[in-house]
Amino acid sequence: MNENQLTSLLEQMTTEEKVGQLIQLATPFLKGASDGGQITGPMVGMGITEEVVKNTGSVLGASGAKEIKNIQESHLKDNRLGIPLLFMSDIVHGYKTIFPVPLAIGCSWDLDLAERSAEIAAVEAAVSGIHVTFAPMVDLVRDPRWGRVMESTGEDPYLNSEFARAFVRGFQGDFANDNQRVASCVKHFAAYGAAEGGRDYNTVDMSEWQLRENYLPAYKAALDEGCEMVMTAFNILNGVPSTGNKTLMRDLLRNEWGFDGVLISDWGAVKELIPHGVAEGEKEAARKALEAGVDIEMMTECYVNHVQQLIEEGSLTENLVDEAVLRILKLKQKLGLFDNPYRGADERLERELILSKQHRDSARELAAKSAVLLKNEQVLPLERSQKIALIGPFADNHDILGPWSWLGAQEDTITLDKGIQSYASEVKIAEGSSVESSSSVQLDLALKAAEQSDVIVLALGESSDMSGEAGCRADIRLPQVQLELIQEMKQLNKPIVTVLFNGRPLELHGVIDETDALLEAWYPGTEGGQAVADLLYGTSNPSGRLAMSIPHSVGQVPVYYNHYNTGRPKNAPDAQERFVSQYLDSPNGPLFPFGYGLSYTTFTYSEVTISSQELREGETLTITTRITNSGEKAGEEVVQLYVRDTAGEVVRPMKELKNFERVSLYPGEEKVVIFTLKEEDLRYYHSNLEYKSDPGHFEVLVGPNSKQTSSSAFQLVK
Ligand code: BGC
Repeated sequence: MNENQLTSLLEQMTTEEKVGQLIQLATPFLKGASDGGQITGPMVGMGITEEVVKNTGSVLGASGAKEIKNIQESHLKDNRLGIPLLFMSDIVHGYKTIFPVPLAIGCSWDLDLAERSAEIAAVEAAVSGIHVTFAPMVDLVRDPRWGRVMESTGEDPYLNSEFARAFVRGFQGDFANDNQRVASCVKHFAAYGAAEGGRDYNTVDMSEWQLRENYLPAYKAALDEGCEMVMTAFNILNGVPSTGNKTLMRDLLRNEWGFDGVLISDWGAVKELIPHGVAEGEKEAARKALEAGVDIEMMTECYVNHVQQLIEEGSLTENLVDEAVLRILKLKQKLGLFDNPYRGADERLERELILSKQHRDSARELAAKSAVLLKNEQVLPLERSQKIALIGPFADNHDILGPWSWLGAQEDTITLDKGIQSYASEVKIAEGSSVESSSSVQLDLALKAAEQSDVIVLALGESSDMSGEAGCRADIRLPQVQLELIQEMKQLNKPIVTVLFNGRPLELHGVIDETDALLEAWYPGTEGGQAVADLLYGTSNPSGRLAMSIPHSVGQVPVYYNHYNTGRPKNAPDAQERFVSQYLDSPNGPLFPFGYGLSYTTFTYSEVTISSQELREGETLTITTRITNSGEKAGEEVVQLYVRDTAGEVVRPMKELKNFERVSLYPGEEKVVIFTLKEEDLRYYHSNLEYKSDPGHFEVLVGPNSKQTSSSAFQLVK
């Protein structure tokens, strides 16, 4: 179908049929569905009639080629004009081959592998009949209490933007011509990650300057990469819920950024305009959301119940509805659904491709690159000959896929004990405690196992329902029983290696000083246990670097590297000063900074050299460092480039990441890393929201993390 044919299809549609395209229903409402599909929100009293189902435009949470073909087939029989359904699902970090959670992928600083993970997720999803994924989630995060930090790639706008692009490339590829890719829906627009107090769905209030500086770039990057769809956020933004926020979506997203794709509400978010207190009832909610630019209402019924009447009364123009419907029809067309409503759905390919060795190998590689070694007092890597006691609630726990892995099966997951058994000559396994409770029997068995060992490997963490959507915590330590388990093990005076499986930066008091080595594995996915064992035994060398700072304590939160200075900075960490910006009972900075991570080898950095002391518009500055592997093992280092604008028209962050490079080095090998900087890289939002650079002094800082950098300086001349 070409554009004219789509317009003529639109002309044949009744208003009721048009409005039907604007609702998205979960699988249980659809004929031909055999199971409930994925339910990720409330489904209360929707009063959906058979007529509405017949006219529905899209479905949420269905999966499987057979299932989706059945639903599509019966829908095409019922739908008067034979308009195919769009199938959308949350394929966030894998379909059945589950990759590490996005926060972990962020810690890989490996854009190629991130892209590959999204491509594999897309291939598995597409052959299973899915057309659109609700990913990537690119919300910038600074508060580890928020359960959804695990869905983000962290606290930095540049790193998030680079990952946003990589994920979109991986999911979409050339999806209009390739049935084994899916369209991508970036979410949650906007600033959902800044919920007050880290409590989900909570208020967000920030200046437009802050929004543009830090929160918007990753959404924009996804759209610049061609991302087809956008999802609204649940939160209020500066007094107006995002889902009814005209300034955000009409003015900025549609008019300023020129986004012409489909905008979908988050689950139930149109009707939530009522409890937010900006709509008296469903009718007003429908009007506000549609006027703000929301094309599809996910899982509530305000549009289907009220839009027709709003048009008849003259409170909405039919034109607004037509525009929304046309955008949806165009997406169906682009996906090729009018020619082949079953698109990539193929049972044979499902059997062949899903969880293939190749896919699992990529998951293993990315899991190893995502884990961050935070401490190592000469205990790692382990020797195969050492007797291991593997203790803790995650010793043989399959719950390591993390939230948003609804199709990932526990039985396909390699647990840590399986991974370790593939290396160790002798391993004894005991739970020691459950995730949040314990018994004396569990503890006795663990003590017995530990007593007979050379090294204790403690596998601790949060169960996956302790993070993710609505998984917020005010106390971000490990559960008390696990802290007690560490104390018990400590009494034995044996080397302790702790591996953490969790979805957020945790407060590590009671863990970090008590253990000799600490590996943050996050939720590492299907191959997680194997990848962690590969790291523990040195088959892989840790190379993950934190994409989000780890605080000393929850009381410091939010703590992030790219903060501003104060007028009264604390100059030296140990200085005894009074009237400076500080806590009396805690350092200001995090326990582990953004960009931090250890390796089994060491890297030395030469002085930073810079091609010129001056940079002019149109010119390029090169910044050079030589990195040497000064240790005894091959390894990978993530070389990071930061810039500091010493005096701006408005305040500038203490440091801003501008580039990075992963380098792989054999022992003794050295490589020269060359970064470039141009005037465009130094632009920022001014107080009048103009985006430009100013002449003046800049520092360039290069190093292995955001704290440990060496610097040089230049001047921007205009
Ligand atoms: C989440 C979205 C998700 C949607 C559909 C919502 O609860 O906030 O991220 O895409 O459900 O499952």
